[in-house]
Amino acid sequence: MVEKSLLVMLISSDETVRRVVEHALSGSLEDYQLDVVGQPSLASLRAAELRPQVVIVDDYLDDTGPIELIRDVSRRLPDAIVLFLVETCPEAISAASQAVMAGAKGFLTKPLNARDLATHLGDLLGRDRAARNRTREGIEGHVIAFCSPKGGTGRTTMAINTAIGLQAVTKADVALIDADYVSPAIDVSLNIHTQHDVTDLLSRGSTLDEELVRSVMARHASGISALLAPSPDGSPERISAAHVHRLLALLKDLFGWIVVDVGLPLDETAFAFLDGAGLVVVSVLPELVGLRNARIMLEHLYTRGYPDHRIWVVVNRATMTGGISQRDIEQRLHLHVHHTFPDDQPLVTHSVNRGIPLIMSHRRGALVNAYNKFIDKLVKEMIPQGIETKESPASTVAGQGQTFDGRVRRPRLGFWPD
Ligand SMILES: Nc1ncnc2c1ncn2[C@@H]1O[C@H](COP(=O)(O)OP(=O)(O)O)[C@@H](O)[C@H]1O
Ligand SMILES: [Mg+2]
Repeated sequence: MVEKSLLVMLISSDETVRRVVEHALSGSLEDYQLDVVGQPSLASLRAAELRPQVVIVDDYLDDTGPIELIRDVSRRLPDAIVLFLVETCPEAISAASQAVMAGAKGFLTKPLNARDLATHLGDLLGRDRAARNRTREGIEGHVIAFCSPKGGTGRTTMAINTAIGLQAVTKADVALIDADYVSPAIDVSLNIHTQHDVTDLLSRGSTLDEELVRSVMARHASGISALLAPSPDGSPERISAAHVHRLLALLKDLFGWIVVDVGLPLDETAFAFLDGAGLVVVSVLPELVGLRNARIMLEHLYTRGYPDHRIWVVVNRATMTGGISQRDIEQRLHLHVHHTFPDDQPLVTHSVNRGIPLIMSHRRGALVNAYNKFIDKLVKEMIPQGIETKESPASTVAGQGQTFDGRVRRPRLGFWPD
């Protein structure tokens, strides 16, 4: 039993789904009212009128697309917990990701069982209360994900130095997630020794809470908290897209910034991190083959519905001898390069070998300057009114910049020049 007097709205054209949801709710909630809307075209207006705390949207709807409906309901009722109920099929994860981008707080798969619904709702309602308290304190985390079409472009270096720089500049709590499950590196780079990693959270099923998450995260001397990936030689435990959605939702309540080092392959788990990010930073090196792959990856992101203002392309090691110029890169990608980091192999290697990030150990130099400028740009982008601290809550505009809002504006990537 998880909650009292809860108004739940179910939007479904399917009689069986209605019966199953009713059965699951009666087995999981102590006191609730269920309002069933059988005509999806009327659902948004009815939701605005009744203002339910929970809205479950079935993927089988007679006359409306469920994703559009989720987007509309989420805009009208920003405080409601909107859940997507999706048929288990190969396309389910992709549909669920779209639903999350449109504003859903999570998804449930058919056949629905009472226990899943109870744990999911209990988890979300608990987090919702925590989020309201946190919002009063001004915490509503910004998620920044670093990714690349290939390894070795500097994702880990950037994620680490950005996380530490953001903490120093904004004074907010910062979480750094190692989501490179094939080649994790944050433990070694930050010289962190702990037995804990993300799998400690997975074993608790869906009952993630603040205390558990904080106990699993390692505190680094810089003040940031790191959530490590499991050791690559251990038995691989699958981290699902659903885990990622829940984890990010909880971390957003606890941290001002969540920086994610996303690994390869870009599978559904990796995409779950990108889907939940307010900003995706794609790092490239100034070399031809990498650029072609970057273009393919960017096209994939746009096709998936990512608006272009949520994707930043950055060139790492831009001053590398023989490297392609920024102008050439922009012409080839038909994109604006948001930032460049100069090449400084000795400094970066020295910093990795000592386990001290360069932004902590060096105050001067072109590379550190580039990081400082990058962090300023990030803060301005995510918090346009100025620096958000625990004492000065995020404004509505900053809050809206959290996740993809679904307004898709696709840039033309053009052709690949010979
Ligand atoms: N600005 C830079 N100048 C020189 N070398 C760099 C720079 N940034 C990263 N590197 C080096 O590039 C290599 C790959 O960086 P890393 O952050 O591990 O990339 P990824 O996480 O994408 O695989 C590392 O050896 C790192 O030391
Ligand atoms: Mg790495």
